[in-house]
Amino acid sequence: MEVNRYFEVNTMKKQAAQEASHWKPALISSAAVLIAAMAYAVIRYNIIKGVPWEHLPLYISNKGIALASVVLIALAYVFGPLTRIRPKVFAKFIPMEKYFGLLGFGLAAVHGIISLLLFSPANYPKFFLEAGKLNLTGELSMLFGVLGFIIFSLVAISDIPGVIDSAERWKLVQRLGYLAYLFVLLHVAVMGFSGWLQPDTWPGNLLPISLVAFIVIALTFLLRVSVMLFPARR
Ligand code: HEM
Repeated sequence: MEVNRYFEVNTMKKQAAQEASHWKPALISSAAVLIAAMAYAVIRYNIIKGVPWEHLPLYISNKGIALASVVLIALAYVFGPLTRIRPKVFAKFIPMEKYFGLLGFGLAAVHGIISLLLFSPANYPKFFLEAGKLNLTGELSMLFGVLGFIIFSLVAISDIPGVIDSAERWKLVQRLGYLAYLFVLLHVAVMGFSGWLQPDTWPGNLLPISLVAFIVIALTFLLRVSVMLFPARR
């Protein structure tokens, strides 16, 4: 009995140490992604476009946070397909996928809260009619954002130990993440499309954040589909 307990505790300790060893690099790389995304937002909007610095704490940070969320969620999806192409290079990143997904979801939640705090015609005129009601761009774009967020919440909840005990069902819920990511693609496409067609209006010729996010999501889907279409190299 004592011996069994000893092994049980030892296995739990090893598992905890393993989890911690994956959390650390995932946290450090996520911080790097967040800093890079923030820097892009600050350079594009505060420095080049001249948005006053007083809007950095929420309005501009929210753009960086949203972009970092999209990139981290991409990192939660790409290492599986990349491992099938180059197992020796990418297999070591697979255990970090879960943490990238959770951190990306956390940032999406922060983005959702900040967006709702700022949501007004003064901050986002492109989403509103003259009368102060939402226009079609605002209605559709926010619908897709909310749908994406709700589905990502289900995926994140399914990761809590004990919530789903069948591996098959867990996999199914995890796959819903792709649907959520598709909604995020629509969220940014609907709000950004008209601006993407006017490159002469881009500050410093830097791509709009919505377009960068669209490209990241589209490449993630492309990678996934190409790995499904072409068999793995052995
Ligand atoms: C409750 C759900 C959501 C709400 C209310 C919401 C709201 C908004 C708003 C108001 C904007 C415009 C921001 C701006 O132009 O400064 C925006 C942009 C954006 N959102 Fe969301 N969003 C939601 C969910 C999501 C999710 C789940 C993601 C990603 C995982 C996401 C990613 C983005 C990105 C990348 C942009 C583009 C930022 C830019 O062009 O500057 N959003 N969202």
